[in-house]
Formats: sequence, structure tokens, C-alpha cells
Amino acid sequence: MKKITIFLCFALLIGGGCFLLFSFTSLVDNPLSDNEQKAKELLKKLTLEDKVGEMTQLSIDVLMQGQPYNLTEPNAFDEAKLKKVLVDLRVGSILNVGGHAYTRTQWEKFITRIQNVATKEKASGIPVLYGIDAIHGTNYTQEGTLFPQQLGLAATWNPAHAYSTGKITAYETRASGIPWSFAPVLDIGRDPRWPRLWETFGEDVLLASTMGAEMVKGFQENPGNNQRRVAATMKHFLGYSMPWTGRDRTQAWIPERQLREYFVPTFKAAIDAGALTVMINSGEMNGIPVHANPKILKDLLRTELGFKGIALTDWEDISYLVTRHRIAKDFKEAIKIAINAGIDMAMVPMDTQFPILLKELVDEGHVSMERIDEAVTRILALKYELGLFEQPYFSFASYNEFSGAKHQAAAKKAAEESIVLLKNENKLLPLDTGAKILVTGPTANNMRSLNGGWTGSWQGDKPGYSTKNAITILKGMEAAFGKANVTYVPGTEYSKAIDIDAAVAAAKGKDAVVLCLGELSYTEIPGNVDDLNLPDEQIALAEAIAKTGTPVILILAEGRPRIARKVEPLVASILAAFYPGDHGGVALAEVISGKVNPSGKLPITYPKFSNALLNYDHKGTDLMDRHFGTNGFDPQWEFGTGMSYTSFGYSDLVISSPTLPKSGDLTISVTVTNTGTRAGMETVQLYITDEVASITPSVKRLRGFKKINLAAGATEKVSFKITAKDLAFVGIDHKWVTEKGGFKVMIGELKGSFDY
Ligand code: BGC
Repeated sequence: MKKITIFLCFALLIGGGCFLLFSFTSLVDNPLSDNEQKAKELLKKLTLEDKVGEMTQLSIDVLMQGQPYNLTEPNAFDEAKLKKVLVDLRVGSILNVGGHAYTRTQWEKFITRIQNVATKEKASGIPVLYGIDAIHGTNYTQEGTLFPQQLGLAATWNPAHAYSTGKITAYETRASGIPWSFAPVLDIGRDPRWPRLWETFGEDVLLASTMGAEMVKGFQENPGNNQRRVAATMKHFLGYSMPWTGRDRTQAWIPERQLREYFVPTFKAAIDAGALTVMINSGEMNGIPVHANPKILKDLLRTELGFKGIALTDWEDISYLVTRHRIAKDFKEAIKIAINAGIDMAMVPMDTQFPILLKELVDEGHVSMERIDEAVTRILALKYELGLFEQPYFSFASYNEFSGAKHQAAAKKAAEESIVLLKNENKLLPLDTGAKILVTGPTANNMRSLNGGWTGSWQGDKPGYSTKNAITILKGMEAAFGKANVTYVPGTEYSKAIDIDAAVAAAKGKDAVVLCLGELSYTEIPGNVDDLNLPDEQIALAEAIAKTGTPVILILAEGRPRIARKVEPLVASILAAFYPGDHGGVALAEVISGKVNPSGKLPITYPKFSNALLNYDHKGTDLMDRHFGTNGFDPQWEFGTGMSYTSFGYSDLVISSPTLPKSGDLTISVTVTNTGTRAGMETVQLYITDEVASITPSVKRLRGFKKINLAAGATEKVSFKITAKDLAFVGIDHKWVTEKGGFKVMIGELKGSFDY
């Protein structure tokens, strides 16, 4: 393999304004992998109809009886539609469920039939590539093991949980006959207004890159053992998560420098981890819909980052080039733009015109056969990689561990570690298990607040498809404290009072109130909010309960930090739970009872005011306040915050050398001691500040983290190896650079410094 340096003008990437040349290193002479070679051989035998069919992905809706989005129940194939789509149109990929999760028996019936029609009745015999949003477990198969959503996984600060989520989800997704998951989300979660924040690994580039790469490995490990693995999807490339308005799928303005420093690294880490597919951002960046931007889809994704897998559109995004973005006059022109920009497969998903129009575009010379062949080679190579030609599905009965004890234990451990203790005045927690407790609030007795969207249904709002024995916070509290000790009064719905007076009456005389506020489930556009503050009714419930004088434990069960400034002073203890999954109710109750010692830390900055949405790695100017002081960063809780029932002492910060050599490393170490009386887990966080730099430096950046487990009284030395690359930023010329000068080091309260 030979490395060369190429120069490329990247100006159009950000919609004009910059005409700098930059260099990058690309891998050339990359010999075709076996799968690509097999794909190229097969390609020679295919007609144009076969090829455009392979590039088409339709929703299962179009195969079913009834109308798309409104299928006949129980869902059943319409044989004529099945033949038309799979045999006549030769559609190569199907996705989704008909509005709600299926049982494994249903999946067996559907997948078996789809693959039999594709492989036995279609002329080419190419199997179908079925894709599904298996994002926190196999959430579209009933009784699948449900892990915390990504924000909750990030709150564990434990990459092992991202890995096991991927691995177990891969197993259970294959157990449902499906070889492809549309996860992980690698969009950086820096804006709490955005309704998909909880689908991200939070605001920090290092934390999100580490967790994302581990999840990819978990999904895809064991090449050769396709019974146990699925293809991962990096989504949504690129610049999706910071729309200008905070509302989903509205325009983003992201300059190239920031794009490269904050948005690209998570994808780069996933590509390096071997991610097989990518889904494109539905939005527009700097006035250009990403589905129509070859600078992103070709120059950056392919030439620069070296990605070789399939680029899939997001839902209906080619037609949105006409109806939302208005850069194409009709669907056919939109197809031309998107395919020529670098799209390999269109998630159409309900309209069967796509392959017909794409064939016309090729016949008319508007899309080249080379472009088609490039896309289809990638698609066929993935089908080979996943073993679909040898075995399009495995025996459904062979997956004995589906939803079994081992998988549930892994999900429970992740849920436990995802809970963040933010306040514990007078050590109210843990509560004595004999305590008399009122449980109240809108998130106390529903699974929506623990699982979020993409759970049983798109919005996670069809309780009939929840895991049968899943436990809400209330049920978890009853199990941990005994039913006789727990009283429940709902108090309010999400934004409607029910019986606040009854809750107040019940709070009187209790040992404690567990006040469960926050959000229900949502995703995408339906999750947009006009106000980040907790709804007034929830605040009214908190105020009324606080007046009783009974000590309050607040649980914030939510997908993004809803502002809790007015409630915080009224309560003694606070626990945050970012969609911890099916085991969240038990995990929270066991944290309250003390059976579990909390160890989660915030993967996001928790704002105090809705007009002060700063991330932890803000700039010096962001510190200015209106009195010309430096109190401009005043969050409710800082990124990385999270308490334990034990205490940890940090000592002996040692930096191995006063100078980091240009091409060497130095080691930063610290000694951590569990100074309390019980075992606990602690995440050691290394922050470094670049003192002076040509691009305004952040006040600090996370440059390393490690979660350790310490018995009471135990001590451990934790070390981080740092190279110049770990300190780099994207410079004025859009290239990564580490400039000479001084660096400050912070671990806990300890401080040090070195030069580079
Ligand atoms: C979402 C994607 C998802 C796709 C398929 C879209 O609306 O943006 O994240 O993978 O639907 O369900």
C-alpha cells in the first residue's frame, strides 16, 4: 500500500467563501478485497434493471396489505406487491416495520418469504439486504433486550457498555433474520434543543468517538461468523446535529473548520473501526442539502476519509430535494442530483418510481454507467461480506440466548452505570429500605420515559409493544422497598395537572418523596420543543410537594437536559436518567436503596438557562458576563459531573517530562484512592488547556478518560499517554496542527503543566 499526498480545493464544501488548498493523505493501490472482486464478477452478469433495483430500498409497508403508514392488522404480505417489488422491480433492500415491533415468529415469516422470493423467483437470485433501526437493542423485535439509549451509554463513560450493546444487539437482530442496523448515531450532541440529542454520545469529541467506535466493533466483530454480526451504519453524515434553530431537519450553518474539528472525528474513528455503511444527513448545511453535495459525499467521505462502504440516503431524502429544499424541479431531477453526488442506495421508501426513473436517467446519459457500477459493487460487496449469498438467514431456533439472562444482565449493568447522581444534600440517599415513600410525577409509571423513541415504534409511544415484564420506576421502587412502603399518586401528566393536591396530601408524613419529572418518548420532528424549561405543571408539582417539608429525591428521566433551575433548590437529591432502557426502573430504585452505587457522569453540559446553552469546551470570550466579568459560563451542572456514595481522593499528579517531544509522548499519571466506606466506580478525566494558539483555544478539552473500580480504601495509579496528535486542533488552513507552547493539565482539582 502506498501513501500519497493530494491537493484538493475544498471551497465548495462549505458553500463558498474559502478557497484554500489543503493536503491530505489517501490510501491508494488498495487491492480489491475478495468481496469487491466477487461483486465485480457478478456485476458483469447483471442488467441495468437489476442494478437500479439493487440501489433501491423500500419500506416493508409497500409489500403489505393496506396502505403505507396504515397497514391492515395483523400485517400480512400482499403477494402481488411482493412480486412486483422484489421480482419485477428487483428491489435489493427492504427496511423497517409496519408501524410497530414484530414478534420473532412474525419476523421469521416475513424474512423467510422475502428471501425466498428474492433468491428463487427473481432472475438474478440476489438476496435482499434488510435494514432496521436497532439502536438500543433490537428495539423492533418484541422482547428484544433493551439497553440505555446512546446518551445513557455515554453517561456510563464505560466503552465496554457501548461494545456489549453493539454485540448483543447484533446477535438479537440476526436472531430476527436481519443483518444490518442503522446505528450508531455519530452526530456530536452539542445542542440540547435538538430532539435527537439522546440518540448521540453527547457533546465531547473524544468520548463520542470512543463510544461510537466500540459500538461499531460490537456490531461487526467476528467477520466470518455472520450468524452473530450485523453491518453498522454511521449516521448521519455530516453536520446533522446542530440545526440553527435547534429544530430537527432545519438548516445548519457550520464552517469547515468547526465541521472538521467537531463533526468529522466521530465518523473517522468509526471508519477506522471498520464501519461498513453510512447514512447521509437529511438536512442542509450552508445552503446545500447534504444529499446533493459531492464535496461531502465524495471528496471528504471517499477521497479523504477513505470510506469504501455503501452511502444510503435517509428517509425520503431524495424527494425532499424537491419538496423541502427546492433544489430540483421534480423527483427525476432530484435522483440525478443525488446519485451523481455520490448516493449508492435510496431509502425511497414508499414510492416504486425510483428504479424506473433512475434507469431512464442512465438511458438518457444523465447518470453514467460507471456511477451505477460503483454503487452496485459496494452493495453487492456488502451482501457478500454479510454472507447473504451463502445463507440469507439463519435458523431462527438457533438463537437460544435471545433476550436471555446474559443479555439482560449486560443491559442492566449498563443501565446502573448510566444513572448520574447530581445532588445529595445531607446524604439523604441511599434511603433505608424500610422508609415510607411517595412516588409521584409524570415519568414515574411509564416505560416511555425510560426507553425513549425507537422502542416498539418510531416514537416509542405504543405501550402495547413494550417488553412485557418491563419495570417502571414505580414498580422498581415497590420491588426495592416493598409494596406496603410505597404510595403512588401521579400528580401531573407531562404538561397537565392531574391531582397535585392528592400528591401533596400523600407526601405529608412520608420519609421521602421520589419526584419523577422529565419527558416522555419522542424523536425527530415530533420531538421539537419551543421551551427547554420543564413544563409549568411539573414545576408546580415540585413546588407544592416541597412545601410539605418531606425530603424530596428528584429523578430527571429525560432525553435532553430540561431546565430544572426552579426545582433544584427545592429538593435534597437529584438523579438524572437519560433513557436507561428496560432496566432503568430497577436501576434507579436500586440506586435509591443503595444496592447500586451510582457512577454515571454527565456526557453533556446541563444548562441552567435556556439562553445559555454553552458546551464545556467553550472559548474565553464565552466567559464574559454582562458586568464585564467572567461568569458567563454558569451551567446547572458541568459536563463530567456525577457523584458516588463513596468518595475519591486524587493525589500525586505526575507529568513524566516538562516537555512533550515532537514525535514522542509523555505520561500523565495520578493516584486515585477510594476514601469512603464502600466500593465504587470513578471516571478519571484528563483535561488539557492549550494556553495560547492561533485559533482561539477552548478553555479546556477532554484528552483522556478511564473508569476504574475501587474497593473501599483501595488505591490505583491511572496513567494517560499523550502525543502531539492528542492536543491538535484544526488550524486556519483546515489542517490538524499542534502548535508549540505551554499546556495546562487538570485532573480533578490537581493541576500541572508541560511545554510542547
Ligand atoms: C431517521 C434515521 C433512520 C431512518 C430509518 C429516518 O427518519 O432520520 O435515523 O435510520 O429514518 O428508519
